[in-house]
Amino acid sequence: MLKNKRLQAWVEEMKALCKPADIVICDGSAEEYDRMWSLLTASGAAIKLNEDKRANSYLVRSDPADVARVESRTYICSENEIDAGPSNNWTAPAQMRETLNGLFDGCMQGRTMYVIPFSMGPVGSPIAHIGVEISDSPYVVTNMHLMTRVGQAVLDELGEDGDFVPCVHSVGRPLADGEADVTWPCNPENLYIAHFPESREIWSFGSGYGGNALLGKKCFALRIASAMARDEGWLAEHMLILKLTNPAGESKYVAGAFPSACGKTNLAMLIPTIPGWKVETVGDDICWMKFGDDGQLYAINPEAGFFGVAPGTGMDSNANAMLSLTENCIFTNVALTDDGDIWWEGMTDEAPAHLIDWKGNDWTPASTTPAAHPNARFTVSAAQCPVIADEWEDLKGVPISAILFGGRRATVVPLVNEARDWQQGTFFGAIVSSEKTAAAAGKIGELRRDPMAMLPFCGYNMADYWQHWLNVGNKPGVNLPRIYYVNWFRKNDDGKFMWPGFGENSRVLKWIFERCNGEGAAIETPIGNLPTLDALDFDGLGLSEEDIALLLRVETEGWLAEIPLISDYFDQYGDRVPEEFRAELEGLRNRLEAARSNVA
Ligand code: OXD
Ligand code: MN
Repeated sequence: MLKNKRLQAWVEEMKALCKPADIVICDGSAEEYDRMWSLLTASGAAIKLNEDKRANSYLVRSDPADVARVESRTYICSENEIDAGPSNNWTAPAQMRETLNGLFDGCMQGRTMYVIPFSMGPVGSPIAHIGVEISDSPYVVTNMHLMTRVGQAVLDELGEDGDFVPCVHSVGRPLADGEADVTWPCNPENLYIAHFPESREIWSFGSGYGGNALLGKKCFALRIASAMARDEGWLAEHMLILKLTNPAGESKYVAGAFPSACGKTNLAMLIPTIPGWKVETVGDDICWMKFGDDGQLYAINPEAGFFGVAPGTGMDSNANAMLSLTENCIFTNVALTDDGDIWWEGMTDEAPAHLIDWKGNDWTPASTTPAAHPNARFTVSAAQCPVIADEWEDLKGVPISAILFGGRRATVVPLVNEARDWQQGTFFGAIVSSEKTAAAAGKIGELRRDPMAMLPFCGYNMADYWQHWLNVGNKPGVNLPRIYYVNWFRKNDDGKFMWPGFGENSRVLKWIFERCNGEGAAIETPIGNLPTLDALDFDGLGLSEEDIALLLRVETEGWLAEIPLISDYFDQYGDRVPEEFRAELEGLRNRLEAARSNVA
């Protein structure tokens, strides 16, 4: 059945190591999906929701000790420590292999080993890549069905000698003969999410949750793919992809990198508030871009579904996500209603009078703990999104006109700032940060830098990754996207958000669209090209002139105060930091100082 020689040999090797009770080669069929749910409901691991409320959907509760990605147990095992860089945990490959061989030896005893061939990206796309996940978790199989393309088509594409990324996963709880299973097996004391960027392998042990266990997502599509992209001259990014159409029917595609929990899914599915404009979704989390023959960057969403944070998602904040979730969904760690449906904080203004919370306990609005875990998730096929773009599965990808970088800044950073060129845009991406503490008005809070929103996801030295971005921009004959630094989270002196965000972000997207067409007014400032005060459509927002001026102001003193922080930050990466970044920083300081003396 497995024609690919390397795959055959690897499966045999993993079978000998993990010693499962049996093996299933997954075919991605609906029958297989249903079979997994029969197993999971029979064991008590999953609850089928009320068919009349949410057809063909399931609720799963994890072990309370296994609820999120664990960055402290995530490793990049390159031969040399410096190649993992200071932002990653590193262990020498030989040492990690020894540890893993010990842990994986016999780890699937009493369980079934599922072999899941999957494609990241539409099967056959020149931008797509194939992986095979071996897992002992039927829950992982169901999620992989929705999040990736699984099955025979992938094996056919792989052929006899095609390449794939091997991804091994075990929940790390072998079953002795006759031992009863728990509903959510895991082994949090022995957690390892290990990546070998040089041999392009992933080994994950001890967790069944999300990015720790669905190895196509963060592990492959970002950490391993970023290293592949460096070697092969493309980009694997933590970005949404959206299609923006103006009232005249002209469309452009925009990619955007925002740190986890900064509203990427909301932006990807946004409902514009300005008449005649339309946003459609191509992807909400990951974007792979390769150059086409015309020198443009073409992007695919390597995923096939959304694995979104449920709390905070409601008809007000993201109607299109809610409308995607009407059937065929998996819900993990949300609350259960008395009529067999689901609920989480932010879904409705008022909580139901009684729920079963994510731990399986009775819950009422008087309870002091949340009904859904803050990292509770929905898993749903992207095809169910009412605004999924027709071309979301185009094999050639979509041409990207603009790239957004954003963080969560209460101070200093304006609503939108256009980079002069790719080099300055790359620099913007590298300095993106979010305030850790609620910053006092006018003061910079403690900053967490999250360059290109890739801090936990870059599979090699971050400074080399910056250099790779610059190299991409220096390729001859390329027609690069414009780059924008955006900030939806600016606060005023009273500590209130100044920008309404959500659908109103379409006003910023409109200006970006116009800029890409050589329209839209901007002024050159020391920090970049800012919209003129009347270039953005603020109609009907009720913002005062002072608010608008503050949202689009160059905060000379604030930026000058930040220069040494950026410099210190770069110093962490030593001499691997591109020269161009030092020059950008110097140029920024000089321009700001000149502006200050002009004012003085
Ligand atoms: C995610 C994340 O789950 O970025 O997408 O953490
Ligand atoms: Mn993400």
